[in-house]
Amino acid sequence: MTNSKTPRIAVIGCGAIAEEYYLPALASFPSVMENLILVDRDQARLDKFTAKYQVRRSARDHREVQNEADGVIIALPTGLHAPIGVEFLSRKIPVLCEKPLAEDAAHARILIEMAHQKETALAVNYLQRIIPHFAHVKKLLSEKTYGAPLKMEYVIGEIFNWPTVSGFYFQSDPSTRGILRDRGAHAVDHICWWLGGKPDLLSSYNDAFGGSEAVAHVAFEKDACKGRLVMSWFADVPCRFSIECERGTIEGEIYDYQKLIITEGGRKREVFVNSPIHTKLDVAREIVSNFIAVIEKGAKPLVQGADVLESIEFTDEAYEKTQLLDMPWYRSAEVRDAV
Ligand SMILES: NC(=O)c1ccc[n+]([C@@H]2O[C@H](COP(=O)([O-])OP(=O)(O)OC[C@H]3O[C@@H](n4cnc5c(N)ncnc54)[C@H](O)[C@@H]3O)[C@@H](O)[C@H]2O)c1
Repeated sequence: MTNSKTPRIAVIGCGAIAEEYYLPALASFPSVMENLILVDRDQARLDKFTAKYQVRRSARDHREVQNEADGVIIALPTGLHAPIGVEFLSRKIPVLCEKPLAEDAAHARILIEMAHQKETALAVNYLQRIIPHFAHVKKLLSEKTYGAPLKMEYVIGEIFNWPTVSGFYFQSDPSTRGILRDRGAHAVDHICWWLGGKPDLLSSYNDAFGGSEAVAHVAFEKDACKGRLVMSWFADVPCRFSIECERGTIEGEIYDYQKLIITEGGRKREVFVNSPIHTKLDVAREIVSNFIAVIEKGAKPLVQGADVLESIEFTDEAYEKTQLLDMPWYRSAEVRDAV
């Protein structure tokens, strides 16, 4: 028997993010777990999680649960967010969609417009906006605590080791987009959010030869601020950001959720953000708890589809204008092979 008082949430896609993030977070809400529905085309994934979490209802096809779910979490490969998300929104079923909201801005707009037309919530898991030190950067920049930003550097260098089940990250159908679309969804969203809107693109380089890129360098400008986003799935380097403002510099490590380093008047100090959010699982619980309130009480999503559209538009532009990164080691190999 299910609990008729709590919403029926369906997790559509039981891959890596469902396993590492949603299912452990949902497990903090036992009454929601009683009503949970799992959907995956892969029966082995369903068997694994229905047994582990004692889930009573599962399905291989999302269409089977369209008349059962009160809300859905779309945790599918990115190219499926828009086509499957829109099916639920068109039935007025609230959606919490994984990042990136969609493959490109055209598909993101389809979701946003359907949500608007049906007056149904479209929440997005741009979870990094909830992480305390990133949120504190937003506050410092909005309040101009150290004046206007002048220079921004954002670096992500991490070897790709995410335990993807489908491997869609490197498949070229429906798109060949790589690190900038994927890991860059958070970084570009930060940049747009922190700067108060979409910057102008100054340059875009990546290492793709027709497939998906593993390295991307993007330069941008907004008002007085010039910035650079450097991303690589080949290099293991400290992931960090730095924002030089008129009267001080704000720095942080991407994965040190509570700490910023502020340099002001030549003096460097550590600033700790006092927040109960320490881990990715804490963030996941916040996102899931908010989505339950969205379904039950019509609460506002922490981050909505429309909030992230500009970041996807910027990403589209960076792909449209991208040039081949200068790779001297590759050029010398080409010359060597030609002689
Ligand atoms: N917010 C974050 O920081 C974060 C981190 C990792 C992944 N993600 C996002 O989560 C989404 C899923 O990524 P993942 O790493 O879990 O992928 P994955 O490849 O591990 O899993 C995808 C799952 O979807 C299932 N699936 C594929 N097509 C299906 C269909 N038509 N119907 C039902 N099931 C289907 C597959 O069988 C697989 O189990 C992606 O959009 C990714 O960008 C977000």
